[in-house]
Amino acid sequence: MSGVFITFEGGDGSGKTTQIMRLASALRDIGCEPLVLREPGGTIVGEGVRDILLDPRHEGLDAVAETLLFAASRAQLSATVIRPALETGRVVICDRYADSTVAYQGYGRGLDLATVRGVNEWATRGLVPDRTILLDIDPGEGIAAAAPAEADRLEREELAVHARVRAGYLELARAEPARWVVIERDRADAVWGSVRAALAPVLERAGLRLEQ
Ligand code: TMP
Repeated sequence: MSGVFITFEGGDGSGKTTQIMRLASALRDIGCEPLVLREPGGTIVGEGVRDILLDPRHEGLDAVAETLLFAASRAQLSATVIRPALETGRVVICDRYADSTVAYQGYGRGLDLATVRGVNEWATRGLVPDRTILLDIDPGEGIAAAAPAEADRLEREELAVHARVRAGYLELARAEPARWVVIERDRADAVWGSVRAALAPVLERAGLRLEQ
């Protein structure tokens, strides 16, 4: 496939949205219109699944049911949107992808990691990002940044779960250093400099060079 597939991962409140907006704008400045997506969501089916997942009334949602809902949204997104876009050479930027399920449902909720990976593999038909940026943040700070007064069901989970999610992400990044780049939370400008540097090699392969 000739496109570039970039994903952003990190705890709640890690600043993914800000960095994705900067990246999209930097790409537009050089004449490239990226496809920006978010998970869960990005398709009509996926947005419906997102509403189910984030609804505070679904407090008792079973962890396996939750995993399969995330996977259903992802299957629809990867088959009908991401893959076709990559085939036509587009840059696809996704706010969360399969690694989120390993981090949150696997490490965070303690579901069997091999099973979660297998579900991901099935849902994505093996489509793996070219580069994944992990915006690493202390879970306490992240929850505070994510406006606790309006916290959705998932954001209200205890801090212990979030600490496991963070450790899980760092383990994933260590296991696959060619794909992951870990960036520590700092001022948004400094983070953007690191994001740009981390993406330069994969963008250059597609003939794209971001301006300084
Ligand atoms: P967001 O806050 O980045 O939009 O993500 C929504 C929430 O969904 C966030 O708490 C992380 C969680 N999530 C999972 O638990 N598993 C997944 O596979 C995905 C994509 C998100």
